[in-house]
Formats: sequence, structure tokens, C-alpha cells
Amino acid sequence: MDAGCGAGLVTVAALEAGAHHVISQDYDGAALSDTARNVTDLLGSEARNRLTLWEADWSQLAPMHADVLAVNPPQRPAALLPDVPEDERHLHDGGGVDGLAALRMVLAHASTARVRSTAAEVLNVAAMDPSPWAMRKIASAELPFDPAWRSVLPQGQGTVDVWEFSQPASPARP
Ligand SMILES: C[S@@+](CC[C@H](N)C(=O)[O-])C[C@H]1O[C@@H](n2cnc3c(N)ncnc32)[C@H](O)[C@@H]1O
Repeated sequence: MDAGCGAGLVTVAALEAGAHHVISQDYDGAALSDTARNVTDLLGSEARNRLTLWEADWSQLAPMHADVLAVNPPQRPAALLPDVPEDERHLHDGGGVDGLAALRMVLAHASTARVRSTAAEVLNVAAMDPSPWAMRKIASAELPFDPAWRSVLPQGQGTVDVWEFSQPASPARP
């Protein structure tokens, strides 16, 4: 599942890497249309047949089961939002006081065994208590950050980590 698919970057990568099926979810219908168009344009109709679009909020994730949920959540701490141009602010809102509120929301509602999320290193994800999820960092990259981050990353770049959260296996059904 690509939760918050936007224009479909993660969806395209997963389908191209051979995912059997991808559910692309976003609460913005225009994002779903963009994702469908990008999959067809970039990968063709065979890949489009392996894609399901789902217009829903992250608070509605629970009924949907998947092997892995990937998310690149909004993560600007609220204090940084005034520096985001007003017409783009809605795209970056949701991080809350510490930047981790959107990630917490996904973890609170996801039914998948694994969640993989990006998180800027400055956000101190390591201090999160994501119980019942176990967490480990699986990748990192040094990337440029847009100017709205300048009060915490004055050099204009920083590390983005990918964290994997996994749930203990549920007991076998009788
Ligand atoms: C930072 S963008 C990431 C887009 C894409 N996954 C990528 O990596 O390029 C976050 C996406 O999450 C979606 N989103 C934010 N809050 C959401 C929520 N509560 N429920 C569903 N989608 C949400 C936004 O509409 C946006 O498309």
C-alpha cells in the first residue's frame, strides 16, 4: 500500500520492482488521478492492471491489509509552517508540534505487518514510543531541504531516514 500516494512516486517504484499489486491511497482525489496517469504513461497498461486506487483518509486505514505500507508523511513541525508559501501550506500541514503527528496517525490505524516511513533525522524519531510497533532504521540519504526548514537546517540540507515499523505476528486463527 502506498499511503498518501501524491503523484505516485512510490507506486511507480513498487510496480516497476515487481509488486504483485499496489493499493494507492490518498484523501485527495486529484492525487489518485495523477497516480493512475503516471503509472499508465510510465509503465503501461499491464502495470495499471496491478493498481487499485482508494480515496480515503489515514484514519480509515484499518480494514485494508497489505504486506507493507509505505508512506512519506507531511513532517514539517508546525512552527515551520509560516515559512511555507501560503498556497502550498496545506500540502505540508499535519506534522504537528514535533513533526511526527502524521506518522503516529498512520501507525495508529494501519493493519499491515510492516510500515515503512521517511522521516527527517532532525525529528528525533528514535525517541518515539510506537508501541506495539518495533522500529528500526533501514536506510538514510543526505538530501537538499527546501527553505522552510532553514531555522533547523541552516545549511539547506540534511539526512532523511527510512524507518521500518513491524507488528508482532497475530496469533493463528483456530
Ligand atoms: C509529502 S506527500 C507524499 C507524496 C508521495 N507519496 C511522494 O512520496 O512523493 C504526502 C501525501 O499524503 C497525503 N495525505 C496527507 N494527509 C493525509 C491523510 N490524513 N489521509 C490521506 N492522505 C493524506 C497528501 O494528500 C499527499 O499526497
